Amino acid sequence: MTDRELRQFIDHVKSQTGINLDASKRYLLESRLSPVLQKFNLNSYAELWGCVSDDRSIENQALISAITTNETYFFRDEHPFELLKYKLIPDLLGEDQNVVVKIASAACSSGQEAYSMAMVLKEILFNLTDFRVQINAFDISDDIIAAASKGEYTKFEVQRGLSDEKIRSYFDCVNDRYQVKAELRSIISFSKRNLLKPARVVAKFNIIFCRNVVNYFEDKDRALLFDNLAAMLLPRGILVIGATEFLNNQFGHFVKKSYKGSVYYEKAG
Ligand SMILES: C[S@@+](CC[C@H](N)C(=O)[O-])C[C@H]1O[C@@H](n2cnc3c(N)ncnc32)[C@H](O)[C@@H]1O
Repeated sequence: MTDRELRQFIDHVKSQTGINLDASKRYLLESRLSPVLQKFNLNSYAELWGCVSDDRSIENQALISAITTNETYFFRDEHPFELLKYKLIPDLLGEDQNVVVKIASAACSSGQEAYSMAMVLKEILFNLTDFRVQINAFDISDDIIAAASKGEYTKFEVQRGLSDEKIRSYFDCVNDRYQVKAELRSIISFSKRNLLKPARVVAKFNIIFCRNVVNYFEDKDRALLFDNLAAMLLPRGILVIGATEFLNNQFGHFVKKSYKGSVYYEKAG
């Protein structure tokens, strides 16, 4: 890859996803893009560049899927799921069990976060069909959304974060593939969404988990992300971000709160 191509791809990735690579990431970029060249029988990065200028091209979708880091696992960091179980959901359902509860897993990767949320809901509500709870999960990568929607995992993936008891309770095992049970899948919908584009949703969320994504963005895009997340929340809605992420006053919109050591943010009234 020439220096010029490197610059072009870095700028393109930033404008498409917000992910802020720099020239030191040449190896990362080349190692992730070379399988894309092979997949589409392209002979050079210049040829790939010719294809990705159309945002909707399959080559561009493949580039986005190749560049995004999809590391995730069930009940990642634990605390946010305790917060959901013992504070956020009881607060919402405390007064009116018929209330509609809308939760988002934003930048959901292969779905483990959304399915972990559904397991929490099952544990406290017992019969999910008796309640009006919905989880909407989104990610920018087509491939990862397709994988997440299936709710199918390998043994290694389910063992990352789940006890044997949870695996038995929440999965059907067929030919060494573990599929999340239909009841849990029925409350989750997956769709593609770029969190840096203005939110188009009509229905807003009570709770948004958006974890382990903002650190890939530079300040301008962080501000845009938090503006968009605030626009997606109902008044006094709750935002939960990753353990190594922060939201300071610069980003407005939110009031910092904590519950038993877990930090979360409430949308200012
Ligand atoms: C490291 S994973 C985090 C997954 C999960 N939230 C967790 O904490 O385990 C980051 C995800 O952010 C997604 N992502 C990156 N930029 C995005 C954007 N602009 N809009 C939506 N999703 C994005 C990536 O595709 C990837 O799946």
